[in-house]
Amino acid sequence: MRVLLTGGAGYIGAHTALALVEAGHDVLVVDDMSNSSPESISRVQALTEAAIPLLEADVRAFVAVRDFVRRHGPVDAIIHLAGLKAVGESVADPVRYYDVNIGTSVAVLQLMAAESIPTLVFSSSATVYGEPEILPLREDSRTGIKLANPYGKTKRIVEELLADAAHADARLRVTALRYFNPVGAHASGLIGEDPSGTPNNLMPYVAQVAVGRLDRVGIFGDDYPTPDGTGQRDYIHVMDLAAGHVAAVENARQGFDIYNLGTGIPVSVRELISAFERASGRSIPTEVLPRREGDVPSSFCDPRKALDSWGWSARRTIDDACVDSWRWQSRNPNGYADRP
Ligand code: UD1
Repeated sequence: MRVLLTGGAGYIGAHTALALVEAGHDVLVVDDMSNSSPESISRVQALTEAAIPLLEADVRAFVAVRDFVRRHGPVDAIIHLAGLKAVGESVADPVRYYDVNIGTSVAVLQLMAAESIPTLVFSSSATVYGEPEILPLREDSRTGIKLANPYGKTKRIVEELLADAAHADARLRVTALRYFNPVGAHASGLIGEDPSGTPNNLMPYVAQVAVGRLDRVGIFGDDYPTPDGTGQRDYIHVMDLAAGHVAAVENARQGFDIYNLGTGIPVSVRELISAFERASGRSIPTEVLPRREGDVPSSFCDPRKALDSWGWSARRTIDDACVDSWRWQSRNPNGYADRP
């Protein structure tokens, strides 16, 4: 298949591009580089020896994207990863989040209609569940419970938009993937997560403390009703997540469907920090801080649907993720600004 990745130069995009090429697919990328770097695609090309056409543009630049697709097509499927993803920023500037996250999704659907592209895989988030009623979370668990931030709401709205679009056009095959917490890096140490500014998420923060860019990790609350009092999440290795995208495009069925992509295993903040200390051989200073507003005590999925439907499951552990993340971070302390 030939697959267009929107946001393909970002963290999840670059790993997904690599996994698609390794599975024998052709890849094209459109990315506006607002939170990514063309260097990631250069490195994927170096690793795979594949040519990956790259258009540096906003997905909403319709004519430019359509002409790019015509030049390098025909395209069989789109994986739509382009979007904004910082929860705090979305609270401060909701209009921008609705504009970009919904606008790019509308543009992708319009492109599919114009160019007769039947298959879409959308990058959704476990955030859409809000505060879990029952754990583990299943795809049919209730969504939107106490979901207060605009970022999560845009993901939920786009899921509904996609369901309506697939309902109206029986040719469409649309899949939303609800990611749990993506972590880790490709085992080569050449591609990985390169957040701009101070990381908001735990794993890149821990990695930057280990490498000496930051002083200590703030633990956001140690009085949660969890075994060690710190928050639990379902951390999925980004290469497992990438394999999930390959499975989703290869197995796309008519209509609209939703899949959780996670491991099903809860890991606490303290457990993740210990795993990173083992992986890096460095001690990681911590400090307990108050709970972060909007955080839930525990979130993890039931990953069975993807296993039953596609034979996909996460294969890598949190230790694997820390080893790979450390390799990436220690070889590229400044991310893609460090040339290999
Ligand atoms: C966050 C977002 C989520 C988004 C995901 C990926 C929130 C409330 N949720 O998920 O919508 O899809 O990132 O971008 O922001 N922690 C610390 N210290 C830190 C950072 C995090 O203790 O410096 C803790 C958190 O309290 C949480 C766990 O680590 O228990 C994971 O946090 P994080 O990596 O930010 O992910 P989520 O909050 O699960």
